Amino acid sequence: MNVYDTCLLKGDEKGIKKAAELLRQGETVAIPTETVYGLAANALDHKAVCRIFEAKGRPQDNPLIVHISDINRLEELVTDIPNSARILADKYWPGPLTMIFNRSLIIPESVSAGLSTVAVRMPSHPVAQAIIKAADLPLAAPSANRSGSPSPTTVAHVLQDMQGRIPAIVDGGECEVGVESTVVDLTGKQPKLLRPGVITPEMLISALGGVGIHPAVKTKLQDNEPAVSPGLKYKHYSPKANVLLVKASPQRFTDFVNGQKGEGTAAMCFDGEEGALLVPFVTYGSRHDSKAQAHRVFDALRRLDEIGAATVYCSCPDEKGIGLAVYNRLLRAAGYEVIQLD
Ligand code: TXA
Ligand code: MG
Repeated sequence: MNVYDTCLLKGDEKGIKKAAELLRQGETVAIPTETVYGLAANALDHKAVCRIFEAKGRPQDNPLIVHISDINRLEELVTDIPNSARILADKYWPGPLTMIFNRSLIIPESVSAGLSTVAVRMPSHPVAQAIIKAADLPLAAPSANRSGSPSPTTVAHVLQDMQGRIPAIVDGGECEVGVESTVVDLTGKQPKLLRPGVITPEMLISALGGVGIHPAVKTKLQDNEPAVSPGLKYKHYSPKANVLLVKASPQRFTDFVNGQKGEGTAAMCFDGEEGALLVPFVTYGSRHDSKAQAHRVFDALRRLDEIGAATVYCSCPDEKGIGLAVYNRLLRAAGYEVIQLD
């Protein structure tokens, strides 16, 4: 793998131009989006795409999302655009929604990891849009973390994982949403939610009438079960610590965690519920504010490493609305281990 002197670019005209140049030369660049930072490369260039997999240490069978800034670019990437996609694009693009289509032959196999489909998204972050426009290319971009780590929502997170492994990072500030885009598969008879995000199942149902939810959103895939979305089968978002999700009232949570007190034990809980804890803790938004939890969850997971946590008891979020996205990420960080106390 190449060793780079990673350069930090501003999200201004000069930085955007430099990022576009690097991308056109077949290099990777970490770019801000409204969800999380992405590690971008020319989606039509197999070699450039390989550099993404290398820098992330990503398994080759996990496909990438292709980012566009203009709906007219969609046609060349896919074989057909179902009506459901037009409805969702009208409503939610640009924005944190990824749709799965049947792929056209210009998509390299490496992007779709050998699948006959391709994931496409139009981000709303102005810097992401400007970079895609300036490069005049569709950009493949997974989250800009080392494979398995929590997704990065700040430049500091990207540096933690990628310094020396990529040529440049464009600074677009803190990502507003904080969890990755909603992924919905539109290639089957019924639209199917593969990854929850801030575009919620309720919003998809209201736009399309009906949406299936892939079982892996809430339960562990069996080892021999084929993954519709290969990303679903990997343990993800994990700090170094062993994370366990705890479903309990604030009082029961505190009593339980205090009872486990010992070297390396830590808690991840909601704002305002940390008062009586006797172990080190991080908080991730208020219990009743799923949007704030989404914004902070990945940063909180990274901070657990900084405080040297070995075992983390995490207070379980509500699964409704945006909460489903937060629950899904924490469930996967916890390797699906949930302790139910109430
Ligand atoms: O918000 C986001 O989506 C961010 C930003 C950078 O845009 N990107 C992102 O990419 O989260 P990544 O690679 O970390 O996650 C992509 C997910 C994976 O779970 C992958 O398996 C799934 O989308 N995916 C990609 N292509 C697919 C396909 N053709 N069929 C099914 N799932 C697919
Ligand atoms: Mg990712």
